[in-house]
Amino acid sequence: MKIPIDKPILVTSALPYVNGECHIGHLRTYVPADIYVRMLRKMGYDAIFISGSDTHGTPIVLSAEAQGITPEEVVEKYHEHFKRIFKDLNVDFDYYGQTDSESNHRRTEEIVKELIENGYVYKKGTKQAFCNTCGRFLPDRYVEGECPHCGAMARGDECDQGCGKHLEPGEIIEPRCKICGSEADFKEQEQFFFKLSSFADFLITYLDKLGGTRNAKNYAKEWVRKELMDWCITRNLEWGVKFPGRDDLVVYVWVDAPIGYISFTEELIEKEEEWRKYWTEDKATIVHFIGTDIIYHHCIFWPAMLKGAGYSLPDAVVASGMVKIDGKTFSKSRGDVVWAAEFLERFHPDTLRYYLVAQSSHTKELDFSWDSFSTRMNNELVAILGNLVHRVVSFAYKNFGVVPEGDIEDEVLGKIEEIREEVVKAVEEYEFKKLVDSAMGLADFGNGFFQREEPWHLIKKGEKERERCGEIVKNVLQIIKAVCVLLEPVMPSKMAEVWQQLGMESDVHSAKLDEITVPIASGQALKKPKKLFERVEV
Ligand code: 2FM
Ligand code: ZN
Repeated sequence: MKIPIDKPILVTSALPYVNGECHIGHLRTYVPADIYVRMLRKMGYDAIFISGSDTHGTPIVLSAEAQGITPEEVVEKYHEHFKRIFKDLNVDFDYYGQTDSESNHRRTEEIVKELIENGYVYKKGTKQAFCNTCGRFLPDRYVEGECPHCGAMARGDECDQGCGKHLEPGEIIEPRCKICGSEADFKEQEQFFFKLSSFADFLITYLDKLGGTRNAKNYAKEWVRKELMDWCITRNLEWGVKFPGRDDLVVYVWVDAPIGYISFTEELIEKEEEWRKYWTEDKATIVHFIGTDIIYHHCIFWPAMLKGAGYSLPDAVVASGMVKIDGKTFSKSRGDVVWAAEFLERFHPDTLRYYLVAQSSHTKELDFSWDSFSTRMNNELVAILGNLVHRVVSFAYKNFGVVPEGDIEDEVLGKIEEIREEVVKAVEEYEFKKLVDSAMGLADFGNGFFQREEPWHLIKKGEKERERCGEIVKNVLQIIKAVCVLLEPVMPSKMAEVWQQLGMESDVHSAKLDEITVPIASGQALKKPKKLFERVEV
């Protein structure tokens, strides 16, 4: 999607449930979102990047029960954990909040009241799963059973192992209590519903215009065309945001979680007239990064809720494919999981950032394996990028000590321009794999140029040859400079090292895309080169 340059952009990344540790499945959304924001800034956009912890709902309560601690304690523990991982991975949010904040309670209450006032909420008697052994209602993840749509084993609110559909309370077949395993009954219970069904026409028009990845749009359109059931927005839980006027009910976690996007913007930009530009005055572009499992929530529930309460609508939804491990679905119990913290103990964060985007196209499934990780490290980061930088900077450092004199050749400038266009197009299409492939293509070109020109044969000859040798070296240093700017969004700390080796005085993080064709300054002192990447043995 071409984004208007004259408006600010708000980029959000889905809020992780803080009910356990971060694994690489989570990172597939955050890392590309961070790359996107860094790239937008390089292109001259005014972007802010927010996310936060999803602290409510049954994922948190169940985790607290299992650990014998309170929901607050669970949240505190994993909220800090996620913040740490994001910091270590250079996922650089402008603001990372959490949905139990006072402002999120307030904003949620306000939006729900708006929906009530606008006539979109009604009360209805429902049948809810109830466990006679535990003596309690079984909301969402407290209950398991058969999916009414595809027959797979499902959780109370989501067919997580089968068709991925959202399930309403009472829909699940043959429910069982997740705590004690006994068969659950259904019991009458009054709940509040959001009239999602009255937003069908709005959603069809909205989804037609929605930007982002095709998978998000198409999946949502299919749903709207088929059926839109009203949506039960209350739960019998203690932990959460109270439904206005009811002490015994909280709102469903999928109400207060996305509202977090608004309250975190408010928390970041305290001035009311400023944050409202983003959320009530349509003066900004809103882009959500999510996983494919939550398309329904972001492309259907969320815009309907915003519309119903009179807020601005998201402009784009970018949905990443799911992550598998050695061809298998994530499973903590089977050990098919790669924990982010363990990964980072062994490998540089930039190698993981690179792998996550280089391994597969953003909307496709990513199958993680140690084999594919080491192949990408050795054949790409070590053999192409690391080799280019080390070989050329070492040669230049040893023979000149500074960036030599010379003009940048048309062939080189033309290639850099061509790659720049490819990269910009890739960003506009959310094709982060194309972005890294193009930038790596430029590094490959640099290796080929150096090899073809054989400057090492010239350095020991006469003055004229030495001059030509300097010119060749300067051209390849220019290519390295360009690669560095183009790959900074992907590997910020490694590219900062390269920038430093080139002797650049500015900061690569704030370097704009336009810099890549600005000739590197002759005479600037190079730094002693150091190897960028080490080979990885499986
Ligand atoms: O699916 C999840 O992990 C949710 N915690 C995502 C919430 S995103 C947003 F809407 F809040
Ligand atoms: Zn299903």
